[in-house]
Amino acid sequence: MGSTRSSFTGKLGFVLAAAGSAVGLGNIWRFPYLAAKYGGGIFLLVYVALSVTFGFSLMVAEIAIGRKTGKSAVQAFGDLDKRFSFLGLLASVVPILILPYYSVIGGWVTKYFVGFVSGSAQDMAVVESVQVGDKVELVSYFDKYTATVTEPLFWFAVFIGITALVVLFGVEKGIEKVSKVLMPVLIALTVFIACYSIFTIDGAWDGVAYYLKPDFSKFSIMTVVAAMGQLFYSMSLAMGIMITFGSYMKKDINIEKSAKQIELFDTGVAFLAGLMVVPAVFAFSGGDEKALGQGPGLMFVTLPRVFETMTGGTIIGAIFFLMVLLAALTSSISLMETIVSIFMDKFKLGRKMSCLVVLVISALLGVPSALGSSAWANVKILGMQFLDFFDFASNSILMPIVALITTIFVAYIIKPKAVIDEISLTGKFKWKKLFSVIICYVAPICILAILVSAILSAAKVISI
Ligand code: PFF
Repeated sequence: MGSTRSSFTGKLGFVLAAAGSAVGLGNIWRFPYLAAKYGGGIFLLVYVALSVTFGFSLMVAEIAIGRKTGKSAVQAFGDLDKRFSFLGLLASVVPILILPYYSVIGGWVTKYFVGFVSGSAQDMAVVESVQVGDKVELVSYFDKYTATVTEPLFWFAVFIGITALVVLFGVEKGIEKVSKVLMPVLIALTVFIACYSIFTIDGAWDGVAYYLKPDFSKFSIMTVVAAMGQLFYSMSLAMGIMITFGSYMKKDINIEKSAKQIELFDTGVAFLAGLMVVPAVFAFSGGDEKALGQGPGLMFVTLPRVFETMTGGTIIGAIFFLMVLLAALTSSISLMETIVSIFMDKFKLGRKMSCLVVLVISALLGVPSALGSSAWANVKILGMQFLDFFDFASNSILMPIVALITTIFVAYIIKPKAVIDEISLTGKFKWKKLFSVIICYVAPICILAILVSAILSAAKVISI
């Protein structure tokens, strides 16, 4: 690695860059479908509770490790203690698993954006009743689209192609500039669409209640498993990304404050996206559990229907999908950039070669995810389609493992004081006590419990 390590120009630069990586499909696509599926209000409550405790502690720890060592994840852990070099490698596997299926979904967004621009908005809102045997099933445009072989593949290629081009030419800076302007537009649009659907769609208020009022009878250990996986994913934790960001951070920037701002921003966008999607699905389906538990396609089925009822909905839909596309691109670019630099550092490859290798791996892992509802619909791993499997393997298994070992590493190897000292460089660390208690006791025990439940539930040993 070169001796000059670039750093962010100021506090805002760091927060915006980290937020640009954090805010993406995780907030707009993944959070709403999980909230709808896992009980609405109760999921929201668990998510927020985990975010201010675990999320905060892990985020400050990762940033501090990065800044202290000035290294990216692959080297940072090993630098602090040789026996933990493997942790950096393990953390690096996470982005490699995420990027391919992230790009498949990015491809769906690209397709919807192009569809809205080219005048197919009406078609995208269609949901038909189809007779299957003696049952009537609802089939959406999205179902038909993902059931084809060529389309999801084509749009996957377009999305990952754009990502690779940006990484190859190293023009992230330009993209980041654009995204800084567009991020506020995305937030404003989300608020507008949420208000529009709540105030104009019959029955949406019941959906708002479902989303905001915790119903404790809907609580299960799976709510916690899902919320914790989502937390890591959304805040780009337990995959070495925040360590890398920390390594670029100047010593005079307050880590505690920055972490709180990133969290607030990230959770705020997720909350608003939920408000935009969940009440609308609730209203369209009359609160039907099956519709609420629909999963990955939720946003792509519900939002076109909301846009269809709006005056000027086609234009608003087009702008909306463009914003989501850009948010997805800033995230996929930072994912790919991370992997490319790992390959460059570890295997001493040039940027071009490294990009090529990452593209080939992503194609190998992404193609099965793109074909999960068509050609390879019958191939299941642990009862899941490829996309769901990769999502589960990274979010519910690998990330908790990395998070668990990271907390043990901080608590018992380098000791919380190492992190606290780094954070205290810019003044008093206000949440010092809370941080120590969480990192030393609460987090290791809870993450272990969550991990075991996720594994047992996947193996169908227990049904939770
Ligand atoms: N946090 C991103 C999201 O919520 O969409 C996903 C992500 C982006 C993870 C970039 C990791 C990363 F490096």
